[in-house]
Amino acid sequence: MTSESLHPLPAPTRRTVVAAVGAAGLAVALTACGSGDDSSASAGASLGRTTDIPEGGGKIFKDEGVVVTQPTAGTFKAFSAKCTHQGCAVTSVADGVIVCPCHKSHFSVEDGSVKQGPATQALPAAEIKVSGDSITLA
Ligand code: FES
Repeated sequence: MTSESLHPLPAPTRRTVVAAVGAAGLAVALTACGSGDDSSASAGASLGRTTDIPEGGGKIFKDEGVVVTQPTAGTFKAFSAKCTHQGCAVTSVADGVIVCPCHKSHFSVEDGSVKQGPATQALPAAEIKVSGDSITLA
């Protein structure tokens, strides 16, 4: 018989604490997702209909801070509408690029990559969900 088998408490106790924290984090995430009353949680916010997004172009949703594009028919992408140069909000989408008005950076409607500086970093992708013809923030 070893003393180890008589004192099994320390390790299981630590695991229990970690598991409890994990469960609490999950509960918070689920609550933020479902309730919609948390002002910082925009998941589920409507971004209109797929028919509102011009093919080869896109539409800017100022309040949500995202730009939704349709690079090719039936393919929808979304990116942050905040320019990676100095943080201005992009204001137009035309000819396959998203344009920042401040210093005229251009970003691809396909993947948010920089087509013209001064920005050097792509617009980060945003998560959207397309179901039927309705688009929502995921
Ligand atoms: S902030 Fe967008 S180009 Fe400078």
